[in-house]
Amino acid sequence: MADQRTLEPASGPFQAGVNTPGDKSLSHRALVFAALADAESEITGLAPGHDVASTLGALERLGLRRDGERFAPPVTPTDPGQPIDCGNSGTTIRILAGSLAPLPFRVTLIGDASLSSRPMRRLVPPLAALGATVLLSPDGTAPMTVGASDLHGADVAIDVASAQVRSAFELAAIHADDESSIDSPPGFRDHTERWFEAFGLGTTNGTRTQVSPGRIPGASYAIPGDPSSAAYVWASAALVPGSRVVTPNVSLNPGRLGFLSILEAMGAEVHGEVTGALHGDPVGTVSVVGAALEAVEVSGDIVAAAIDELPLVAVLGAYAEGITVVRDAAELRAKESDRTVSTAAMIRALGGGAESTDDGFAVVGTGFLDGGSVDAAGDHRIAMAGAVAATAAGGPVTITGASVAAVSWPTFYDTMEAVWSSR
Ligand code: S3P
Repeated sequence: MADQRTLEPASGPFQAGVNTPGDKSLSHRALVFAALADAESEITGLAPGHDVASTLGALERLGLRRDGERFAPPVTPTDPGQPIDCGNSGTTIRILAGSLAPLPFRVTLIGDASLSSRPMRRLVPPLAALGATVLLSPDGTAPMTVGASDLHGADVAIDVASAQVRSAFELAAIHADDESSIDSPPGFRDHTERWFEAFGLGTTNGTRTQVSPGRIPGASYAIPGDPSSAAYVWASAALVPGSRVVTPNVSLNPGRLGFLSILEAMGAEVHGEVTGALHGDPVGTVSVVGAALEAVEVSGDIVAAAIDELPLVAVLGAYAEGITVVRDAAELRAKESDRTVSTAAMIRALGGGAESTDDGFAVVGTGFLDGGSVDAAGDHRIAMAGAVAATAAGGPVTITGASVAAVSWPTFYDTMEAVWSSR
């Protein structure tokens, strides 16, 4: 059967409370922290998609033992002997590149066609500064071979606001013989940095994180919902004036809040309330009420804090008044697809006007999309943003390659349809 899903537009304003799946970034990190810890950990609410299954599978091959919600680090790491498949997951391969550096043997990490074309060279200078070996294909992509490195302290600065690269460096640096530090442009999600601070492994001042050598303790992780998944629900409500959605218990890490600021700037009513924290990383409830939308220009530091949600900004822009422009977002080219291109193609496929640029895209807001057929381009975030565009479209939207949504949210389409029919 063809891998397609067709969504009919919502029939009117909707009101819904939605529990989003566990946060992907925090799930990857909790599993890696558990595998490197000096005692057992407990993890609840792990993200359900394929990406986090890739991290879990990789760590189990290396000796992590799972019993329900309990995770025991390997007594001695197991040499898998064969390459480890990281699937579609950039976070898995990049964070493991640093975390596996001190293993007593070398491990080769591979991925699917999309992951195998994504840039990995950015990991090399910071990890090499610590003494870590990172072997790549000549074009700077996976397969990647890491491990068997003696690590020493180093101070580095990187020129992308990449939480993946920072985390790789930090998770290697705890095994170094001395203090290390990393600096980068702002806007990154600082989940790893906050947990390091909570566990006495480092401190962060602005964008500079100082890492102290040490062991991660066994700990308990109650993973909150994923704001990057909640963003589809928020955007959908924003498209229909009078609709309201509430998403309790989502991560409110400052590096994840860019999209909420953009939504607000476009005219949606946004409320956020911090209700707790996970090892120093804030968690809370967000509600969004739909209203007439205006175009927005997105550039500078906010880009990193909204990077995974930029395809949704294009959808909102198509339904807004004016021309929405996203700049300074060349990182979109390094995602599961070249999202400057796939985002603009998605809008055009639905009857809107959009162009990709070198470092982003521009969308003409006509206040309307016809509907039509969107090619997911092997990218979960394009598949899901295309489906959200159906909310207020003139006709149905068909997503081709729809099953890729399972990378981050396996029940996404059913959830959206249930949201649209909640009154
Ligand atoms: C992530 C960081 C971001 C983000 C990705 C998840 C993470 O990537 O786009 O979906 O969990 O660290 P970069 O670190 O490359 O910016």
